[in-house]
Amino acid sequence: MEELTMSIPQSMFLVIFGASGDLCKRKLMPALYLLYREKRVPATFAILGVARTSYSDASFRENIRTELIRYLSEDQMDEGIMREFLGCLYYQPMNPAREEDYTTLKKRLDEMDKDLNNRSNYLFYLAVPPALYEIIPQFLKKARLTGSPGMKRVVVEKPFGYDLQSAGNLNKIYTSVFQEDRIFRIDHFLGKETVLNILAFRFANSIFEPLWNRNYIDYVEITAVEKLGVERRAGFFEQTGTLRDMVQNHLMQLLALIAMEPPRQFEATSFRDEVSKVYRSLRPLTEETAKSMVIRGQYTGADDIKGYREEESVAPDSRTETFVAMKVFVDNWRWSGIPFFLRTGKRMPTKVTEIIIHFKQTPYHLFECTGTHCPVTDSLVIRIQPEEGIALRFALKVPGSGFEVNMTDMDFSYASLGQLPVMDAYSRLIEDCFAGDSTLFSRGDTVEDSWTFFMPVLDYWQRHPEAPLYSYPAGTWGPPEADRLVHEAGFEWSNPCKNLTKTDKYCEL
Ligand SMILES: NC(=O)c1ccc[n+]([C@@H]2O[C@H](COP(=O)([O-])OP(=O)(O)OC[C@H]3O[C@@H](n4cnc5c(N)ncnc54)[C@H](OP(=O)(O)O)[C@@H]3O)[C@@H](O)[C@H]2O)c1
Repeated sequence: MEELTMSIPQSMFLVIFGASGDLCKRKLMPALYLLYREKRVPATFAILGVARTSYSDASFRENIRTELIRYLSEDQMDEGIMREFLGCLYYQPMNPAREEDYTTLKKRLDEMDKDLNNRSNYLFYLAVPPALYEIIPQFLKKARLTGSPGMKRVVVEKPFGYDLQSAGNLNKIYTSVFQEDRIFRIDHFLGKETVLNILAFRFANSIFEPLWNRNYIDYVEITAVEKLGVERRAGFFEQTGTLRDMVQNHLMQLLALIAMEPPRQFEATSFRDEVSKVYRSLRPLTEETAKSMVIRGQYTGADDIKGYREEESVAPDSRTETFVAMKVFVDNWRWSGIPFFLRTGKRMPTKVTEIIIHFKQTPYHLFECTGTHCPVTDSLVIRIQPEEGIALRFALKVPGSGFEVNMTDMDFSYASLGQLPVMDAYSRLIEDCFAGDSTLFSRGDTVEDSWTFFMPVLDYWQRHPEAPLYSYPAGTWGPPEADRLVHEAGFEWSNPCKNLTKTDKYCEL
């Protein structure tokens, strides 16, 4: 059995299923090129793309070259390195849904092992539609591509399951083929520098953590919205919806990073144990709270923008939600009684992902307050994208006579660090897969914990198709019912602007 070591192995082949697809061209290949350029791949390295589309090695290389030119910036391109990188690419046409094709795959990998001196170390990357997630590991196993000798690992793209039952079923299949710590359930969100920076911000500083609890914090907002509609993903999105596509994974990960206890060490077991504790502390939803604490919406047309139901591949009476706002409680010692408001949607006024920690007011107001933020409440804005950074909003005296106070921002822009990383989340996470470090990947039990939390909502929506689905015009901040959710708790959404330091309800977009 492979002994897991946290360093990049001497030799390894990456086998990408779905190599003709969008994810491979747009994200994986640029990420791999950058890793290659930085010499952060195994010394003996090859990428074998597999899919049904008919390419030869040469035409696959040519196709990827065209895509790299499209997706890399000019300063990332280097002709010499590009040539070397393309030389590592191979292609095997096959249908991943057909068992007999895996015999051909095994034969090809055996030949490549011999030619390139690889010791049967394979990292399988499933960049295919989720309907194929079940079958591929089973066919790999039957073809004797997953056992000894050599290291065998697998990366599975999101979404991992459609509900608790399907996620549980996938977990059973994957753990019957690979050991849990060789299964990399990827969600590129967790590889983003700014998401990782939440951990550094919280646990590398001594000044914030003492305030990071129910005694000082009033409520937390987590917003991840986009300006675009469903675009080319309508067919997929119709079957998925925003709760499954965004809330169950991305927003829950952000919630976990904000609410978790410090892990004993920054390594896979300690970190993922703490994430799991947060999910297990969530106040369970019931049919009643699914009605009152979860608001779903769907955009309608506005100006020259089509409504969701007018989009291609969308049913004219579709009940798929494109917006979700919800109130969540983490029932533990640190967070008891503090609401976390989550909000995500398509066709919003802007594209932004940010977390706002709202601190409690002072017990008594000594000073007169001016401006729009009265009474004064301090807040901390953690901006994930765009204009990544952190802003601390607090009150200062207005210059001049008297003693009026108004809010000011102390802000840090991530770009000001100068040396921004050249690699994106995919590079970071693929490198972690080479190194066998699963810290930033979801563990099987945690995925199921998250689905468990959302099942009452999904069941309620399924059993009650008449349950409210509020409409909102494209380009607005969602249905008014989402405002009611925060207003009845005595709070407000802070509709963010593009500009980090203008997180103001009335800001210009
Ligand atoms: N695209 C993204 O930005 C993105 C982001 C996050 C996660 N993901 C996830 O990553 C996975 C891949 O995404 P993608 O956008 O690259 O998907 P895609 O373009 O729809 O599909 C990838 C490839 O899978 C093969 N394929 C499609 N249907 C098949 C079928 N019925 N049987 C066998 N092969 C089939 C196709 O290749 P052939 O026709 O050549 O066989 C296709 O090129 C999905 O699970 C998606 O949810 C994608």
